[in-house]
Amino acid sequence: MKGVILAGGLGTRLYPLTKVTNKHLLPVYDRPMIFYPLDTLVKAGIKDIMVVTGGTSSGDFLRLLENGRDFGLEHLTYAYQEGEKGIAHALSLAEHFAANEKIVVILGDNIIEKDISEEVRIFEKQEKGARILLKKVDTPERFGVAEMKEGRIVRIIEKPVIPPSRFAVTGIYMYDSQVFDFIRALKPSSRGELEITDVNNRYIERGEMTYGILDGWWTDAGTFDSLLRANILVAKQRASK
Ligand code: G1P
Repeated sequence: MKGVILAGGLGTRLYPLTKVTNKHLLPVYDRPMIFYPLDTLVKAGIKDIMVVTGGTSSGDFLRLLENGRDFGLEHLTYAYQEGEKGIAHALSLAEHFAANEKIVVILGDNIIEKDISEEVRIFEKQEKGARILLKKVDTPERFGVAEMKEGRIVRIIEKPVIPPSRFAVTGIYMYDSQVFDFIRALKPSSRGELEITDVNNRYIERGEMTYGILDGWWTDAGTFDSLLRANILVAKQRASK
């Protein structure tokens, strides 16, 4: 399977750290942030990866990651997203790269403790549709949140004021090639972006969404507090090895 890392956006919540660089190039303990999602994909056996980036620092990704050989990649491809049009829009740039195959998508600021190989294997066997990974959190209102009924996801609500559960939708998504048709049919949300949550709800409506619960800790790193948390979690993990 192929992998896509979404590393665009302006990182406005981290301003001024992101004034002269991209969020995904900022340090998380001893490595640039993007190394972590890259490692997550490589550990799951994914060796053909596209990084979608944007903004003025996009050339720095090429300087940092080069051709991906040092990470064990066979192919590393880059795409450039113009403007700030959302996660689903960034993913649409990977359509040609995906070439009708299933893909694993990870947000460039998602850092996890364990590996997702088993989840990827499960999705490989899934005939069609999508699979997402959920994680129980204390602050679900910061994320997309799954509304559950009898063990199934009935819908996902993006940043709900009153969360229907504590299950956050992590930024790890597995899709079949229908995803690009669903993105094409999207309308921008109230914040003017194409939302990945709308794509996921489309799969849910069709009864083609499965999920797993992510093992080990998970954090994003898009705010000062979550970036600090990411640094501390990684530092502790290194110290325990
Ligand atoms: C995005 C998604 C959200 C998801 C989160 C995971 O939010 O929109 O559904 O829970 O990533 O990191 P953002 O970080 O763009 O606010």
